[in-house]
Amino acid sequence: RIRKRAVLCRRDIDALSPSFLSIFESLVPAEEEKAKQKQLFQLLQNLVNRKWPNAKLYLYGSCANTFGFSKSDIDVCLAIDDQDLNKSDFLLELADILVSGNLQNVQALTHARVPIVKLMDPITGLSCDICVNNLLAVVNTKLLKDYAQVDIRLRQLVFIVKHWAKSRRVNETYQGTLSSYAYVLMCIHFLQLRRPAILPCLQAMNVTYNVTVENTNCAYFDQVERLREFGVRNKESIARLLWSFFQYWAYHHDYTNDVISIRTGSFISKEAKDWTRRIGNDRHLICIEDPFNISHDLGRVVDKYTIKILREEFERAAEIMQYDPTPSTTLFQLY
Ligand code: GTP
Ligand code: MG
Repeated sequence: RIRKRAVLCRRDIDALSPSFLSIFESLVPAEEEKAKQKQLFQLLQNLVNRKWPNAKLYLYGSCANTFGFSKSDIDVCLAIDDQDLNKSDFLLELADILVSGNLQNVQALTHARVPIVKLMDPITGLSCDICVNNLLAVVNTKLLKDYAQVDIRLRQLVFIVKHWAKSRRVNETYQGTLSSYAYVLMCIHFLQLRRPAILPCLQAMNVTYNVTVENTNCAYFDQVERLREFGVRNKESIARLLWSFFQYWAYHHDYTNDVISIRTGSFISKEAKDWTRRIGNDRHLICIEDPFNISHDLGRVVDKYTIKILREEFERAAEIMQYDPTPSTTLFQLY
């Protein structure tokens, strides 16, 4: 049963936008941080290419999707075309090269779900994770970045939602709550469904970008500079959008039946995806379809305890957005 509440938006909602926008501004990384990231990326590219001339490095995750906070680490994917590559051996070899390149705290995590090498660069002070041939992550990073260029409100909404999720400790996948990637998908989907829409569904438009990676075809309209006017008919302020976002996840989302899907710009039934029961460790209590790897539910990490925590946090945020005199401070009070 869906709990529906007929609350009207508070009257002074739009007046709260400046305080949220200044929080957004304070979280955006400065240009010199971007420069440091580039510097480390270049160093890694040189070290890797000395040994493997055909390997190519890509940035992915929040350092490349434009949803990264200041002082965040960088995620790098090393792509190498080698049919009989043994990932563990390769990562150990890579770790040796990094050590000889004077990088610190080098650690190969060969048994992780996504095997990586971790390192710290003493020159820039940045930490970095390197994975191998995880090209779907590189492509979904581009999709997120392209969406961010259509309407500035996506970036503002994501920064504030991620800041809320980190402050309230509901952005910890190893504890059973959602990843940053999942929150970005929730924000995109939410803005696709506003009326008038603030974001289009890029995967439902004519194809201008088309790659096949890891046996998955990834195709969508990526000429986003042509979509700069897309959302302008919708005048909703950031505070109003935040208010509705939390209302939606607190009181209106149908957790029993619906899967959110940015691939289609709408909902899919759990029934249709066969996500109605627990299979192994995947419980499907909140369902967020990955845009390319469509059998992948980003909500799979949530269990029967953490779904409760998550929903209580959405309700808390919705109540604060409705009644609190200073929501831009109360919302982020540390858990
Ligand atoms: P922060 O580090 O919290 O700022 O966010 P992030 O954007 O780096 O996100 P996150 O660490 O959650 O994910 C990094 C990247 O991994 C994402 O941008 C995706 O490209 C990729 N990815 C693909 N599948 C998954 C998944 O199931 N879970 C997560 N967490 N990431 C995935
Ligand atoms: Mg990250």
